[in-house]
Amino acid sequence: MERVSTGIEELDRKLIGGYPVNKATLITGVAGSGKTIFGIHFIHRNCVEGRKCLMIATEETPEDILYQAEILGHDIKPYYESGQLSIENIFESRSESIGQTRYGFKPESLDIELPNLIELIRDGTECLVIDNLGTFALRVSQKRLRDQFDGLNYLVRKKGCTTLLIMDESAHNLTHQLAEYSVYGSIRLLVKENAYLGKMERYLCIPKMRSTPISPDMSIFEITSKGIKIHEPKGGSLVE
Ligand SMILES: Nc1ncnc2c1ncn2[C@@H]1O[C@H](COP(=O)(O)OP(=O)(O)O)[C@@H](O)[C@H]1O
Ligand SMILES: [Mg+2]
Repeated sequence: MERVSTGIEELDRKLIGGYPVNKATLITGVAGSGKTIFGIHFIHRNCVEGRKCLMIATEETPEDILYQAEILGHDIKPYYESGQLSIENIFESRSESIGQTRYGFKPESLDIELPNLIELIRDGTECLVIDNLGTFALRVSQKRLRDQFDGLNYLVRKKGCTTLLIMDESAHNLTHQLAEYSVYGSIRLLVKENAYLGKMERYLCIPKMRSTPISPDMSIFEITSKGIKIHEPKGGSLVE
């Protein structure tokens, strides 16, 4: 199967080359666990490789994302300025388009549902990040949400996008982890205490990745000034 680099060397190794091309991979985790930064690595690497990229954001402005990328040493501004990369904050752009003031909008008053996002995807987009699906997930019934996830997955595949769907852990749990079933693969980020060392650590596990032999072991990772660095698991234990 063809793969697209995740932008993180050790993760590419784990995934036998990267995210499966034209499929959707879900990333879940609590606030601050590093989800958006995983998205930034993916976008940066694929911009460098000349692919057309799109990031649809619900929480951050394009400026926030460009700044976060820059301070991690993954400057994506040149690609944003050249148009190779688009970053859309859907609530801002939608509220502007319906004539509301930039700061007076209420996301819940905007009728955006998951499949509508597809309208934002310009033809030729090869790499797509949607951050954060949780914003949509709590607005509809479970049955409808399941249909919407399936619909979104179908549509991004049809558009030919290798897609990273980001969802915060609380929305994921409140929706009974339904998103997990529609996607091709999923990656879970955790922040846990290492009782042995008496400190908090970041962990990554890959509960699902179709057509890919994956170890169920958790890996420890760090967020450094150069971005994400994943350590290889040692003997399957959480304690080094
Ligand atoms: N330069 C950096 N060095 C170390 N940690 C950083 C750096 N930049 C961001 N972080 C960490 O990354 C976390 C945010 O990651 P982010 O991807 O935005 O999380 P999420 O999207 O899961 O909420 C911050 O809480 C901070 O701890
Ligand atoms: Mg985020």
